Order: sequence, then structure tokens, then C-alpha cells
Amino acid sequence: MLNRVNRVVVIGAGFVGSSYAFALLNQGITEELVLIDLNKEKAEGDAMDLNHGLPFAPSHTKIWYGDYSECGEADIVVITAGANQKPGETRLDLVEKNTRIFKGIVEEIMASGFNGIFLVATNPVDILTYAVWKFSGFPKERVIGSGTILDTARFRFLLGDYFDIDTRNVHAYIIGEHGDTELPVWSNADIAGTAISKWAESKDGFRQEELDQIFMNVRDAAYHIIEKKGATYYGIAMGLVRLTKAILQNENSVLTVSAYLDGEYGQKDLYIGVPAVVNRDGVRDIVELELSEEEQQKFTHSVDVLKKTMNSVFP
Ligand code: 2OP
Repeated sequence: MLNRVNRVVVIGAGFVGSSYAFALLNQGITEELVLIDLNKEKAEGDAMDLNHGLPFAPSHTKIWYGDYSECGEADIVVITAGANQKPGETRLDLVEKNTRIFKGIVEEIMASGFNGIFLVATNPVDILTYAVWKFSGFPKERVIGSGTILDTARFRFLLGDYFDIDTRNVHAYIIGEHGDTELPVWSNADIAGTAISKWAESKDGFRQEELDQIFMNVRDAAYHIIEKKGATYYGIAMGLVRLTKAILQNENSVLTVSAYLDGEYGQKDLYIGVPAVVNRDGVRDIVELELSEEEQQKFTHSVDVLKKTMNSVFP
């Protein structure tokens, strides 16, 4: 019997797709990595360039540029293709254009016989993840969006920085739309099992406005980065690698992804950022945080905004 190897296919060799490929290679997570892009030259150039790093990688990865037929053997297809935000644009502004692009992409992937897990990163990610679910006809568990994985990482980084504690000891979530209506779940935020409010009190007195500013910096981070360098890609690429690892290594890790709600948080029929248990089968369970009344209201508002935009493409 042939040894079973893991294959990851990346659709889109733009900034996010190629940063993801680079990060994946550096962590030695998959045996095969296929790059697909409309611009074949770019995908071929990336494959060559990445291959030249193999002598320095932790393990061997077979990397090549290919076409959609190669999705048939894939365990995970990661979609990063599509238009991205220009300075001043919101993520939701991209919805019509990217939904159209996605229809064609998902049809090609499905024609290959693909039967693995979709990971979606293109914005507006919650709506495009829903689009992939619709277009593919896959079970909801096997279509996952990057959701608020990056926002949660930004939140943990900034809180760790503020309290001078390793970001990996910060347990705090950003949920909701990956976009302007996302919210911090302060009611469940802790550092090493001790509430953030306790840490804030012991830091020369609790100052709510400083915590509020931390959240605003999370919410607006992409705008600030896009203003400075035109796009964001390293953070999201590492978040996607984290998700890839949780899937391929069957980790049952809790990550804030865009997952399909079917009654959880009192909501139905949409993809939105929530903590979820991720393993080889995709999303195993949604973690239902106990939200304060204010948080629940903000989450409902985020759902309403997403649904309103979704209506323009899925009436
Ligand atoms: C980000 O948050 C633009 O969605 C992208 O970095």
C-alpha cells in the first residue's frame, strides 16, 4: 500500500498565499504543497523560490505549481485568491466581486473530486466562507473560514504587551464579523486563569479607556497596516498555518474561526467568528462562551450586519 501523504493546495499566490506557503514550509507541516494561481508564472516562480529553501527546512516538502485537477488528492484546499482592500475600503466592500470569483474557483475545485477541508481566507471572509459552503455542497464542518483567528492573535499580542506577559499565556477572544463590527469578549478574558480586570487593577489602577484602546487597535489594525504597506499578510499566513496544523495533526484545538452557526449563540444560517474545536474532520464543536448582555447585543449586531450584506449576494 502506498504511504498516505498530506497534500495542501493553495489557491492564490498573492501576498497571503505565498506568505502562507513560506510559513508552512518553515514549520514542516505537510508533505505536499501545490500552488495554483491565474498567473502561472508567479506560482511557478514561487514554487522554484520555495524549493530552494528546502535544504534549510525542518523536513521535506514536495512543492510545485499546478492546476485545479490536483485538488482531487488534497486534504486541505486553502483559498486566498480574490481582490483585496484598497486604502479606505472596508472588507464588506469586496463582497460582490469576490463572490463572483469564488463561484468559478469552487466549481473548478469540485470538478477535481476534492473531498477534504476548505480553508477560506479571502475577505469578506465570513461571507465568502458561506459562499464556499453553498457552492460546494460540503457538510458545514468541512468549510472553515479564518474568521477572527487573526483578530484574536492581535488582541492577545496587544494584551500581552500591555501587561508584559507572554502572549501565549493570554486567553481572550475576539468574536463576530472579521471586520468593523467584531467584539472583544472581556467577560471571559484571563491571563493564566486570573481575570484581565484583576491584572488591570494591579497595574497602577484599572483604566477602562486603555483597555478600550487596545480593542480599537485590534479592530482597526488592518486599516493601519494597509495605509502603511498596502496589504496585510504575515499574521494571517501564520494563522492559516496554525489552522492547517490543527487539522492535519487532529489536534482538537480551540481556535476562533468562521464557523457555521445552527442555533449556537441564538443564531442560524451564517458563518461568523467564534471559538471552535478544530480537528481532522474540520470543526468538531462550537464553543459557546457565556457572554455578558452587552456582548450578546454586540454579537447580534455583528450578525445583523453580516446578514444584511449576505442578502445582496444570497437573497
Ligand atoms: C486583516 O485583518 C485585511 O483581513 C485582513 O489583516
